[in-house]
Amino acid sequence: LSSVEVDVEALEPGMSLTVKWRGKPVFVRNRTPQEIEEAQAVELGELKDPLARNANLGSDAPASDIDRSAGEGKENWLVMVGVCTHLGCIPLGQQGEFGGWFCPCHGSHYDTAGRIRKGPAPENMAVPVFEFISDTKIRIG
Ligand code: FES
Repeated sequence: LSSVEVDVEALEPGMSLTVKWRGKPVFVRNRTPQEIEEAQAVELGELKDPLARNANLGSDAPASDIDRSAGEGKENWLVMVGVCTHLGCIPLGQQGEFGGWFCPCHGSHYDTAGRIRKGPAPENMAVPVFEFISDTKIRIG
């Protein structure tokens, strides 16, 4: 029904694209090793929102880097709804104090796993239902 297929073959590490899904932007990012390391180094206790908010996992899954990403072997891929969980602005990529996303509307800072780290947003950006249908294609929804 309302799913969208995304070809990610051209996305080198450090590159992102945005697709529209159900009227919302979805960010697909091929994270760099450094971005992954930074996110993995964060203690879960430091997180404002301890839940993964990943529709592919149980609702109690923790906001570890692996559970925010596309999972084992695909940790470099981050797919999430690009909508700030405060009041719905679209955050800007690779900005802010944590090197992830920054929402200029009221100053929310997200890390390289899209987790809220500072500012008024209450939750990590949502990871939608998605899967790799080939090595280079993702189906969202
Ligand atoms: Fe993003 Fe308010 S909508 S900080």
